[in-house]
Amino acid sequence: MPKISAKETSDKNLEICMIAPVIPVLIINEIDNVRSLGEALVAGGLPVLEVTLRTPYALEAIAEMAKIKGGIVGAGTLITPNDVVNAVNAGATFGVSPGATDQLIDACQDAGLPLLAGSSSASEAMRLLEKGYTVQKFFPAEAAGGATFLKSLSSPLPQITFCPTGGVSLLNAKDYLACSNVKCVGGSWVAPNEAILKKDWDLIEQLASESVKVLS
Ligand code: 3PG
Repeated sequence: MPKISAKETSDKNLEICMIAPVIPVLIINEIDNVRSLGEALVAGGLPVLEVTLRTPYALEAIAEMAKIKGGIVGAGTLITPNDVVNAVNAGATFGVSPGATDQLIDACQDAGLPLLAGSSSASEAMRLLEKGYTVQKFFPAEAAGGATFLKSLSSPLPQITFCPTGGVSLLNAKDYLACSNVKCVGGSWVAPNEAILKKDWDLIEQLASESVKVLS
């Protein structure tokens, strides 16, 4: 893929964040039926999927989910340049990281992978802004100050848009989405591990469509 600039990354991130109110954060513990999981979320109205690189199945899951019609699959928990190469090779079209390092940012730019880089303080957000990253993940959202914190940042730093993730649920997602600097949230609640293990795709589709209905 051709290289991607910070501006192009920010534009792409904004586009991704405007598609649906929630980006499901997926931790894949078994590869069987991974496509059914993705299809349930897409059918429920959540086409943007983040597969975290936290299990041995993650890359294979990205490759499988990338085949889902209407799905947009990204790789989460990117930490190293090697993760970036693996994610791109598996078919991820965007990346997400809990924080940001120069090394990771450079690797994503070189690989042409838009990175939703994480920040959790004014200084971290400003450092990313200095580099041209105007759309950022806010992580760990609840632990780092929640919607109140983001609302406070919107006054001095209105040029930054956030995707809060970490401790977000249907109960508090509305508070985040009410912030002028939030376009979508990320969370695992739409794909609970118990439901995945039980292969309860109906429940997962229902959780997705309920979130779309309540939060759109
Ligand atoms: C994560 O990285 O695990 C995400 O932020 C998801 O957090 P959650 O499980 O609290 O939604």
